[in-house]
Amino acid sequence: MEIIKTIGEIRAAVRKARLEGGAIGLVPTMGYLHQGHLSLISRARHANELVVVSIFVNPLQFGPKEDYASYPRDLERDSALAAEAGADIIFAPSVSEMYPDKALTQVEVALLGDWLCGRSRPGHFRGVTTVVSKLFNIVQPDKAYFGEKDAQQLAIIKQMVADLNFPVEIVPVPIVREEDGLAMSSRNVYLSAQERADALVLNRALQQTNRLFRAGERSSSKLRQEILQMIEAVPGASVDYVEICDRSTLQPIESIDTGALVAVAVRFGKTRLIDNITLAEV
Ligand code: PAF
Repeated sequence: MEIIKTIGEIRAAVRKARLEGGAIGLVPTMGYLHQGHLSLISRARHANELVVVSIFVNPLQFGPKEDYASYPRDLERDSALAAEAGADIIFAPSVSEMYPDKALTQVEVALLGDWLCGRSRPGHFRGVTTVVSKLFNIVQPDKAYFGEKDAQQLAIIKQMVADLNFPVEIVPVPIVREEDGLAMSSRNVYLSAQERADALVLNRALQQTNRLFRAGERSSSKLRQEILQMIEAVPGASVDYVEICDRSTLQPIESIDTGALVAVAVRFGKTRLIDNITLAEV
């Protein structure tokens, strides 16, 4: 596996693979890889001749008071994990390689980024769509792989790809959880033992919602109330949002049906975690 740090070199490597006729898969990440990322990489491995994993902690998607500086970084560890999962190339550009001058262009998907995570992280999704557009233009993948844990990010990127005619297929990959149900996240390393134990309420509450849905409950406000009660009963948890919405439009829905997205964001100490479930009959 190769580690490439410049746009010129990654373009050359991809061009060569394309001339040889292979499909190119891109797994965009901010590094500090965990099992969730590795499942994206192995999905890409099965469907592409060349698998590129980008590792770039994108300053544009962090707010001024967020954890950009302290975000965990470990390229050596990530390289070993990515190679084992089947990556061919890690593209790990510096900030100055990606943003050499003050750029005047950003990419923003209207409306979808205004609420849920977008409400407490203004500008976050503009940062995400800008860097993902750049990565798509640089790597020109046939397929790009995104985790369903970031359900809002996934919906926004799908909308951007459709609106701007990017010739990329977006492949969603299911959430990977620890054995005790905590959704994998690079930010889990910030949690103290107590906060980590508290955070298990997220999966418990989401599973309970699905059980109630399967038992016939269709009122969004009742299900929301149930989740809020469960989470608020944990002293260390501070709710940012609990919403039930359409998976693609992200619009809130009152009378729910199979396929509705239940999305939560909750702080445990200084760490804000997100999680979600898609309601299903069986
Ligand atoms: O999901 C992430 O890790 C990031 O938002 C992404 C898609 C790599 C863009 O920086």
